[in-house]
Amino acid sequence: MRTIGVFDSGVGGVSVLKEILKEFPYDNIIYFGDSLHAPYGDREIEEIRTLCLKVSDFLVYKKNVNALVIACNTATGAAMDIMTNKYNIPVVGVVENGVKEAIKLTKNKRLGVVATPATIKMNIYSKSFYALDKSISVYQVQCPLFVRMIEEGWNDNLESDNLVKEYITQLPKEVDTLVLGCTHYPLIEKYIKRYFKGTIVDPAKQTAKSLKNMIGEGEYSKSPKIDFFVSGDCDKFKKIAQEFLGTRIDSIEKTIL
Ligand code: DGL
Repeated sequence: MRTIGVFDSGVGGVSVLKEILKEFPYDNIIYFGDSLHAPYGDREIEEIRTLCLKVSDFLVYKKNVNALVIACNTATGAAMDIMTNKYNIPVVGVVENGVKEAIKLTKNKRLGVVATPATIKMNIYSKSFYALDKSISVYQVQCPLFVRMIEEGWNDNLESDNLVKEYITQLPKEVDTLVLGCTHYPLIEKYIKRYFKGTIVDPAKQTAKSLKNMIGEGEYSKSPKIDFFVSGDCDKFKKIAQEFLGTRIDSIEKTIL
């Protein structure tokens, strides 16, 4: 039976996990949330790379996963190329999948991206958009406080609403399609929608589909397992992840790499 490894800097990757579970109902899944080190997006690129490789080495060499899902944009930008070259298994990231989907959906080729400071600094979204279509205009907004607030458990109050407004209204009015360029953001999509009325792209669905194209559907199994490994506060992780996934999480193992 196959095992798919999924990782993120914390709980955000559950937005990708949710789609992976739909496409791969019969495979074992191991999820690693490196919440002790979240947010990755505030760190130097070299540091992010080192953290990511510790997690991916754990999944590939210790847990023997058969495919790796980088359920984090920041990690995809910092380390996907290295991981693809390093491991002999299929590796899928989120950025290219979000980009392709957004290009399909935009009507006026004015695209917005909200992401972590590191993702914006690496410019991976603009580069991927322009590689596919040079006539596109990309507007990027960094949202430095979102990941921290989501990891803590988002409170929908005046203060958080003002912050969402402050970030989202930086996008020019002509943007018709917005990519959630951080896997944490789908967890607050309904609050983002208050200030962005166009099409919202969450790369998760396409990412799961693109892995399916690479490895196909798993063989039928009656009782596939999902194991969670979390480096930070397991209770906080569990509460947020359960609410988003809409299922119970029975076991989380605290694991500091
Ligand atoms: N979910 C990660 C991403 O997609 C957040 C990174 C962070 O921890 O800042 O970029």
